[in-house]
Amino acid sequence: MKAKLKINKDKVIAKVEDAMYSSFVEHMGRAIYTGIYEPGHRTADEEGFRKDVIDVVKPLALEYVRYPGGNFVSGYNWRDGIGPKKDRPVRLELAWEAIETNQVGIDEFMSWAAKVGVKPMIAVNLGTGTPKEAAELLEYLNAPKGSTSLALLREKNGHPEPYGVDLVCLGNEMDGPWQICAKTPTEYARIAHETAKLLKRIDPNVKLVACGSSNSSMPTFGLWERTVLRECWDYIDYISLHNYYRDDGDTKSFLSGSQDMDRFIKEVRDIVAEIASEKGSDKRIGLSFDEWNVWYHFRKENNFPPKWTCPRAIEEENYNQADAVLFSGLICSLLNNADCVKISCIAQLINVLALMITVPGGGVELKSIYYPFLHASSLMRGKLVSCKLDCPTYECKARKDASYMDCAVTEKDGKIRILVNNKSDSESIHLDISGIGGRMERWIEGKMTALEKKVCKLSDVELTPLSWNIIVISE
Ligand code: AHR
Repeated sequence: MKAKLKINKDKVIAKVEDAMYSSFVEHMGRAIYTGIYEPGHRTADEEGFRKDVIDVVKPLALEYVRYPGGNFVSGYNWRDGIGPKKDRPVRLELAWEAIETNQVGIDEFMSWAAKVGVKPMIAVNLGTGTPKEAAELLEYLNAPKGSTSLALLREKNGHPEPYGVDLVCLGNEMDGPWQICAKTPTEYARIAHETAKLLKRIDPNVKLVACGSSNSSMPTFGLWERTVLRECWDYIDYISLHNYYRDDGDTKSFLSGSQDMDRFIKEVRDIVAEIASEKGSDKRIGLSFDEWNVWYHFRKENNFPPKWTCPRAIEEENYNQADAVLFSGLICSLLNNADCVKISCIAQLINVLALMITVPGGGVELKSIYYPFLHASSLMRGKLVSCKLDCPTYECKARKDASYMDCAVTEKDGKIRILVNNKSDSESIHLDISGIGGRMERWIEGKMTALEKKVCKLSDVELTPLSWNIIVISE
């Protein structure tokens, strides 16, 4: 097969925000316990954090890591996780039907985040929680040293200086019937509005993410976004999108999932524009795609670990090459919508539908999806530039015009960077790149891991079947 890619680097579409490369760690499965935290592990540091995990997370150059959930947050009392560890309560964790020992809480997460070099994106509980509890959490985190009792409590717990958290999620997936204390659009819009008001009073610098729909198939999708945006407009900065993709045996349809992500983003972007015009407002509300990945719901097909254990090893996915190729396409979609998508979190980072899986007491295994994320994060930054891809299409159950390729082009430091995949499992695609001068400097090909390929002429790129690729061109 043949394809053409014409790049117009003078037409800049948007800045790619660093927050585009963010992730998510939830108190779920083994993400925390025997994931990032395993006292007694041969690499554990003085706080019990696994250094072998830190070593493979750091190169991902994540901007934010979302914490502590996810569904978990809707039943979580943040006060359970502070103070001396021996005094912390052990509780039933109702989102994932596990036991929560609270040996890791907000202060430990902040410490881990600092070690990894990421910023925290903190979700507050709007399920069982109240605006007051959310406000007190932000006060605990950000109040100036010695200024209030909560600032003194933070100091007593070893952290006199404010943490300076600058991004907070107003709950999680509150439209989902599975959510602890799920809400109607109006119920959520009201509590989000009142919570946001308090949080902005405590710290006007904090940016707030309101919950959008849990996915684009939710029965209230659209109504939910409109209700929340109308009610919360003055206080919020972002609205969230979540979506997971899975191969149900029809791999061709699965691989066209990036086109679904594109459509979902554009629908939410249009709703935001509609409410802006209704309100006559110039305010820009960005999109925070703060949960996306491939998710097979492992537990449904396998023996599921017993309830009420800690850690309860759920949703440990084993990703293959097709997953990595779709994953690269999802990154293309997020990049190609960088004019409205300002934050995106791969869900999740570790052990739970994750880039990596640890063995308790053992090593850490990097999954096929780790590599497209790693290389996109290190190379696909800067500015999104215009391009026109002319490539073959195929018919599948999901659509008549599925594209054989996904592609995004960025420019940084005078270098053009192209993320491109080939979704065919049998045929190579000959790609002719035009519109720019210069020479290929680097070509990374993803086949389960990532390989350096031999550089070639820009008119002569041969994309092998079921591969993702990043090509760097210096001008
Ligand atoms: O990422 C796993 C779960 O998926 C999260 O807890 C929830 O927000 C979503 O349904």
